[in-house]
Amino acid sequence: MSSFKPLVFSGVQPTGNLHLGNYLGALRNFVALQASHDCIYCVVDMHSLTATLVHDDLVDQTRSITAAFLASGIDPKKHIVFNQSRVPQHAELAWIFNCVARIGWMNRMTQFKDKAGKDRENASLGLLAYPSLMAADILVYRATHVPVGDDQKQHLELTRDIAQKFNNDFSARIAELGYGTEMKVGEEVVNGFFPLTEPLIEGPATRVMSLRDGTKKMSKSDPSDLARINLTDDADAIARKIKKAKTDPEPLPSELQGLENRPEAQNLVGIYAALAECSREDVIAEFGGQQFSVFKPALAELAVEKLSPIAAEMRRIQADPAYIDGILRDGGERAGALAEETMKKVHEIVGLLTN
Ligand code: TYM
Repeated sequence: MSSFKPLVFSGVQPTGNLHLGNYLGALRNFVALQASHDCIYCVVDMHSLTATLVHDDLVDQTRSITAAFLASGIDPKKHIVFNQSRVPQHAELAWIFNCVARIGWMNRMTQFKDKAGKDRENASLGLLAYPSLMAADILVYRATHVPVGDDQKQHLELTRDIAQKFNNDFSARIAELGYGTEMKVGEEVVNGFFPLTEPLIEGPATRVMSLRDGTKKMSKSDPSDLARINLTDDADAIARKIKKAKTDPEPLPSELQGLENRPEAQNLVGIYAALAECSREDVIAEFGGQQFSVFKPALAELAVEKLSPIAAEMRRIQADPAYIDGILRDGGERAGALAEETMKKVHEIVGLLTN
């Protein structure tokens, strides 16, 4: 059975500072996957227009996320790093996918409901169609694996739905042109043009929670800066935020089950495990029975040890915007060549006369 070549794709929005959740849930996994896969990592600047149209600093933010990619250990020579808007095929394929996907699918997206709030009629059309652009980001490279945090799971299920509907709707044309690749769907072997992409949601920190409220996700848009640790925070800020992190009055439990219904304790233990690259069981084995007054300084020390070198490297890279732009330009050219190949075939499959 010929099958899709394994290829990793993921993206990060240049909206607000990157935080510990982005790092542990996404970036660190991006870095690890480079050893086993070809990877494409994208700063998805066009996605940033969906919730807020006018930004003062989109260019700086795009450079800052790129610097974070590089400082975390992404190699832009062996792999591809670029910003989305350089490769217009993303938007072009998103248009086709807007015609494949159903409005009902988009209306069900929890992220859309959260971001649009009560006044859904007043949300931008781009915010509603966001997952269609996200599917295009991935499928314009026919990527097979997508590392993300837990909050993107629903969008990736939708990406599979879009791929599957495109493959079904155009199955006759795909077969006629010989553009199908065999893949397994359940027990069945089918022929499709787009792969059914696998999400990679891995590690002990796929959903890092706010330091102020263990039931809310750590987020770039939280109005309280105390809720998150930014990748650019200095040692004092990291220590202060961990010290102020909300906890309950009990000591850490001596068994993992003791973390149930203690969202803040669970979150801090998960963060420690992810930073120390050990399991949550290991953390409990070391700190079970201890008070937060002992655990928090240990966590702060570990966070500073792991994050400070990244912040320093980010500052060094960001001092040279021309270097960053050069990387994005080179990555954009290489990504563009791949995207163009896919789009040529999509034109033929759909019947758009562009030869
Ligand atoms: P974005 O920019 O909001 O987040 C970037 C990555 O960080 C992960 N993440 C978290 N992980 C753990 N805990 C948290 N609190 C946390 N907050 C964020 C996200 O899951 C994500 O992996 N729609 C995407 C960007 C995107 C994309 C794509 C991703 C656009 N096209 C194609 C993958 C493939 C987003 O807004 O991520």
